[in-house]
Amino acid sequence: MRVGVVLGTGHGEKGTTGTVVDDLLQRVRQHTEIDVDVVCTDDLDLGPSCPACLACMTAGEQACPNVDNASPARELMDAADLVVFATPVHSFTLSATMKRFVDHFAYLIHRPRYFGTPAVLVSTAAGAGHDAALGYLETAIRRWGFHTVGQLGVNGPGLAKPPYRTKVDLALDEIASTAVHAVRDGGEPTPTTSDLIGFRVARLLVESSRDDGPVDAAYWDERGWFDADWFTDAKVPRVANALAGLVEGRIRKGIANGSSKPYRG
Ligand SMILES: Cc1cc2nc3c(=O)[nH]c(=O)nc-3n(C[C@H](O)[C@H](O)[C@H](O)COP(=O)(O)O)c2cc1C
Repeated sequence: MRVGVVLGTGHGEKGTTGTVVDDLLQRVRQHTEIDVDVVCTDDLDLGPSCPACLACMTAGEQACPNVDNASPARELMDAADLVVFATPVHSFTLSATMKRFVDHFAYLIHRPRYFGTPAVLVSTAAGAGHDAALGYLETAIRRWGFHTVGQLGVNGPGLAKPPYRTKVDLALDEIASTAVHAVRDGGEPTPTTSDLIGFRVARLLVESSRDDGPVDAAYWDERGWFDADWFTDAKVPRVANALAGLVEGRIRKGIANGSSKPYRG
């Protein structure tokens, strides 16, 4: 089994996040042999932030000015049977280096490719912010096709207290077992209403940007997605799909006649 680890911390594999991921991998090894690829997002040399040129979307990912530097992460994700995305919590959300990694793969929202690959999410913190960090990562990587099979937020200082350490160890045991079974069993989860809305919003984006560049639309054409309800052959629940259709209708109407409202919190 090939496991890819994307580590979004400047403290590398020996920091708190890297250590928790290592604890997880040790447990995965108790179930099966694994080859592990690790990418530390700080080592990718992606510059201060994504250049925001949108070339990856309009001309293809090879047009990104940082494509070579980002390629170890892309190769890791392409080769993996399971990917662990791990970040420290910084100011109540994911680290900036992890966000920069996510931004460099924004084209995957338009051209997702990781359906059927399970992911595990890990965050570490002094005490708070796991919900925002892990919630964001779960949403972002789902748009790329991955499905999350386990997530764990650990407070580093708490690990010195035996009762907390025991709970973390139990959670790691459970996640390792779930992840190995997810890889062995294969397959895709049934798409949720949120997934189906995501599919329709992606289709809308791709349709509306056809004139900016042919890459996204060609990708969708090749896969027949313009005529589909979902990206894969997974069974699409009827009620959820009808709801997603209603939401799409509203969004289309809002865009067409300007009736959508600005977000006010
Ligand atoms: C800039 C910065 C912001 C942080 N913000 C938070 C935070 O909002 N909540 C929290 O509980 N810990 C916060 N921390 C603590 C780290 O999340 C914690 O030490 C983490 O386990 C470090 O992991 P690492 O060694 O893998 O980098 C912050 C640390 C830094 C450097």
